[in-house]
Amino acid sequence: MKYDFEQVIRRENAGSGKWNEIKNTLGFFPEGVIPFSVADMEFGMIPEVREGLKKFLDENVLGYSVMTDAYREAVAAWEERRHGWRIQPEWIRDTPGVINAFFTAVKAFTKPGEGVMLMTPVYYPMYFAISRHGRTLVDHPLVRRGDTYEIDFEDFTRKAADPNTKLLILCSPHNPSGRVWTREELERIGQICVEHQVLIVSDEIHCDLLMPGFKHIPFGSICDEFARNSIICTAPSKTFNLAGLQTANAIIPNEELRQCFFTEQQKDDGNPKCNILGLEGCRLAYTYGEAWLEECLQVIDRNRRLITDFLAREFPQIQVMKLEGTYLLWMDFSGLGIECHELARILKEEAYLFFDEGYIFGAAGEGFERWNLAAPTQYVEAGLERMKILKKYIK
Ligand SMILES: Cc1ncc(COP(=O)(O)O)c(C=O)c1O
Repeated sequence: MKYDFEQVIRRENAGSGKWNEIKNTLGFFPEGVIPFSVADMEFGMIPEVREGLKKFLDENVLGYSVMTDAYREAVAAWEERRHGWRIQPEWIRDTPGVINAFFTAVKAFTKPGEGVMLMTPVYYPMYFAISRHGRTLVDHPLVRRGDTYEIDFEDFTRKAADPNTKLLILCSPHNPSGRVWTREELERIGQICVEHQVLIVSDEIHCDLLMPGFKHIPFGSICDEFARNSIICTAPSKTFNLAGLQTANAIIPNEELRQCFFTEQQKDDGNPKCNILGLEGCRLAYTYGEAWLEECLQVIDRNRRLITDFLAREFPQIQVMKLEGTYLLWMDFSGLGIECHELARILKEEAYLFFDEGYIFGAAGEGFERWNLAAPTQYVEAGLERMKILKKYIK
């Protein structure tokens, strides 16, 4: 490998909430332990971005900034190269985060009391976008089938057809299930939503993180009708571990929707802007980051196989859900018969394993844990060894 994915940059004093959780829970940092929770990576910084930002700082000043043509072109070129979707650079609106974008969309395109549909269990801030703005959650539970999840299109259609349902926040690829929706699934979702006038915000932040054999289909790429009925959110933050730069893109092909989104952004924040280093970091990553990403995906896949094989051998009661995309492995611990809060306590306090508890993704996540695979393999191996502590609790 050209890049080093084994070195850990310790973040205990760097303002990382994910690392702080270890100290807050245990009162100390155990030797050789890193967290596997929040979805950022425990790899060193991508050199192309680090060196590029250094050069940028040497040659520029940190004044106010707007998206440059080079920025828009880098975003558009990435989308086309990696996902085959040709977008117009002017469709892009910058936003300080994908959460920010779907919060804005909920306010811009729905009224208080109106329904916003989620496919649950799902990334928890999506629930906040609804509850904090007085909208109504339209819960479409995904159906568990063995080690994967499916869409119950009868339920989906019924809920979309309710005249109060105005918006779907689609998580594509889906966090935490690890599903990469197929073209057929997306076509059905899109057709039903168009028919019932349900607008779609497609959160595609995990679109570049694909396991071998899987392909992400940008929702807006499927047909013009879907493009006109959607807001597609992307960011370099998961792909290249740049979340701290707070830079994301809302790609809005429909000019009327784009204007409405922009008006809402201005209403909200007065002057919503990505910061100058974020824009440059994103441009650098999308322009020079491909080789790093390819190796990074190999490490994630290696960690996935390692954990899956270990659990099949040592803990056959734990079901690992099939990972198609994202670097977040969704594991069902309910077969161990340990109550979920007690399970979290044992994992953290005794095994020093810091995951995200499944119940934060909704009731259907109860009994699950989510393991962030974007971590050096040696720490994953050490974590698996510590997991053996669980054996004494199995009923
Ligand atoms: C599905 C999904 N959307 C959005 C985010 C966060 O996006 P941002 O940091 O750009 O607000 C995450 C982070 O884990 C995520 O998993």
